[in-house]
Amino acid sequence: MENKVENQVDKVENKRMSNTEGDIENEVENKVKTQIDETENKLETKTEDDIENKVENKVENQVDTAENEEVSKTEGDVENEVEDKVENKVKNQMDNTENKLSRINDVESEIKSQLESKVETGSIVGNEIENQQKQEDILSVSHTGSGGLAAAKEAVGLGAKVAVLDYVSPSPIGTTWGLGGTCVNVGCIPKKLMHQAALLGEAIHEAATFGWQLDPKTVKIDWEALRTSVQNHVKSVNWVTRVELRTKKVEYFNALGHFKDAHTVVGTTKKGEEKVFTAKDILIAVGGRPRYPDIPGAVEYGITSDDIFSLERAPGKTLVVGAGYIGLECAGFLNGLGYDTTLMARSIVLRGFDRQMAEHVAEEMQQRGVNFIYEAKVKKIAKQEDGRLLVDWVDKDGQIHQDVYDTVLFAIGRRSLTQELKPENAGLKLIPETGKIDAVNEQSNVPNIYAVGDVLHKKPELTPVAIHAGKLLARRLYGNSTEKMDYTNVATTVFSPLEYGCVGLSEEAAVALHGQDEIEIFHAYYKPTEFFVPQKSPDRCYVKVVALRHGDERVLGMHFVGPNAGEVIQGFAAAIKCGLTIPKLKSTVGIHPTVAEEFTRIFITKRSGLDPKPQSCCS
Ligand SMILES: Cc1cc2nc3c(=O)[nH]c(=O)nc-3n(C[C@H](O)[C@H](O)[C@H](O)COP(=O)(O)OP(=O)(O)OC[C@H]3O[C@@H](n4cnc5c(N)ncnc54)[C@H](O)[C@@H]3O)c2cc1C
Ligand SMILES: NC(=O)c1ccc[n+]([C@@H]2O[C@H](COP(=O)([O-])OP(=O)(O)OC[C@H]3O[C@@H](n4cnc5c(N)ncnc54)[C@H](OP(=O)(O)O)[C@@H]3O)[C@@H](O)[C@H]2O)c1
Repeated sequence: MENKVENQVDKVENKRMSNTEGDIENEVENKVKTQIDETENKLETKTEDDIENKVENKVENQVDTAENEEVSKTEGDVENEVEDKVENKVKNQMDNTENKLSRINDVESEIKSQLESKVETGSIVGNEIENQQKQEDILSVSHTGSGGLAAAKEAVGLGAKVAVLDYVSPSPIGTTWGLGGTCVNVGCIPKKLMHQAALLGEAIHEAATFGWQLDPKTVKIDWEALRTSVQNHVKSVNWVTRVELRTKKVEYFNALGHFKDAHTVVGTTKKGEEKVFTAKDILIAVGGRPRYPDIPGAVEYGITSDDIFSLERAPGKTLVVGAGYIGLECAGFLNGLGYDTTLMARSIVLRGFDRQMAEHVAEEMQQRGVNFIYEAKVKKIAKQEDGRLLVDWVDKDGQIHQDVYDTVLFAIGRRSLTQELKPENAGLKLIPETGKIDAVNEQSNVPNIYAVGDVLHKKPELTPVAIHAGKLLARRLYGNSTEKMDYTNVATTVFSPLEYGCVGLSEEAAVALHGQDEIEIFHAYYKPTEFFVPQKSPDRCYVKVVALRHGDERVLGMHFVGPNAGEVIQGFAAAIKCGLTIPKLKSTVGIHPTVAEEFTRIFITKRSGLDPKPQSCCS
């Protein structure tokens, strides 16, 4: 029995030591069951009394033997000697038994506590578990960005077993980050905080006109303090995410996943250890990473949105290349923080958005001091002796120009991280040009492989889209839901200095779809009450409503440039989902004095030719 117990204890201990990351409930549960059963059996058949009896029998035998052997000794001598022997033997046996029992108890309670905490950093899913995992068990493997996390949390709530993998490869300059994906670490969250920092700078300058006693000339940003505050918040979200995964019993593994086959994902840890997961369903939510142009010096000296929010040094004079969401937002907050900022667009700004609104946003940024260079491309970046970056760029006429910057930030779109998944091993098809997945209701060409978020072909690359699609997919797979993701009329906001929020069709898209005669465009400039005291320009804020001209005059699109655009447009997005019409909009009583009320008093159509400029605050 002693050897058996010891072997078992050793086995459990060895297993625990070889498991470095991740943990699997089944493995531990099975082990615990077997071990507890075996232990209980042993304890049942070999109680302390049993052992004592056995020892006593042994001792009696020994006494008999001794009595026979030690005939020359007196009876008393023999008795004393044997008594001592018996005492020692019984004591040793009892000590051994106690030690064994206490070791068994230790192992049991350790395994129990492992079961309670489910997954500790450094636990593992191994081949043994893979073999134990039955295909009919629901085990879903996903990646922990916005979409993967949402799907995972929803799925475990519906009774599925879920493992999530997350792995961040460092950026070319070595930036890396924690759990939670792009939005939390290098996207929406740090961006919004830096945007807010820039808005506060603007507010400080306006505060003097409201009577605040301060000298705006002495106000400047401390980049290090800003970066630290932003990163502290990001880290707190990483931590909360981790705790939430544990609480919700989603198993997390810090490993880079790739397909072995359609039901098997291999995760490789930083140390190069491999873990194998088999699953009935697999969800791809790997998102993307910024692209770099194929020009000399781009990767060596350029940075991207992956780096800017944790940049060790202040960015200084910055060239932002690319005029999409990220380009405009980064250029906007950098300029607002006081850095000399140039935005270089190879064509137009904000492709895909309502043209008039996009240009309005760019003009407004220009008025604030962002230098725009249109129809130009960077050709080369070199590092000067003083450490600054010499940038060669070419204009639309082929003329080469040069300028020196402290930072060059590329915001030229993002590459899906699907190639790294070795999709061919699972028979997964990708769109060749983009590497994206052309899924139908989030289901790929391989029936048990699903995808949500930025990896989806022709779907909005937005956090709430990834989250919503992930949740609905989990409900369809593991609940009784049939609700599908509706990718139309998704509201979005560009966090440019004066924000631009919109939902539904652009003017161009509506005209292309229904014809010029069938579309009515309502529009208005407006001046927020808070703009009057600092005497901000009345042609900055603008709203536009795109609607059907006939029939029920259904609203097809709403566009808003002004303060807190995201907050404003969110509610109207719900109204559009509910079938908002122009008569309903006009019959909605506004909240005064707010900027959102401008939508409720919109009456000038472009067709009328009337001046959309405001006559007074309450016109
Ligand atoms: C600068 C910036 C600002 C943004 N601002 C906004 C905003 O204001 N509002 C908004 O709605 N959206 C914004 N977005 C977009 C938003 O961040 C994305 O749409 C969203 O994060 C997509 O979620 P996802 O789940 O598809 O992927 P992600 O959030 O990118 O998560 C994917 C995760 O999978 C990991 N991963 C990748 N490959 C593997 C692998 N093989 N194995 C294991 N793990 C892997 C990645 O490291 C990552 O952690 C912004 C994006 C950027 C870059
Ligand atoms: N507020 C938000 O919700 C928010 C914020 C940030 C990001 N996001 C999401 O993240 C996604 C990615 O944003 P993004 O700004 O990286 O991409 P994007 O919106 O697709 O814009 C990419 C920009 O880079 C330009 N470009 C492409 N290749 C180039 C090259 N080789 N040289 C120079 N310029 C080049 C494009 O110009 P062309 O127009 O000429 O192609 C475009 O202006 C967005 O689609 C968005 O959904 C959302």
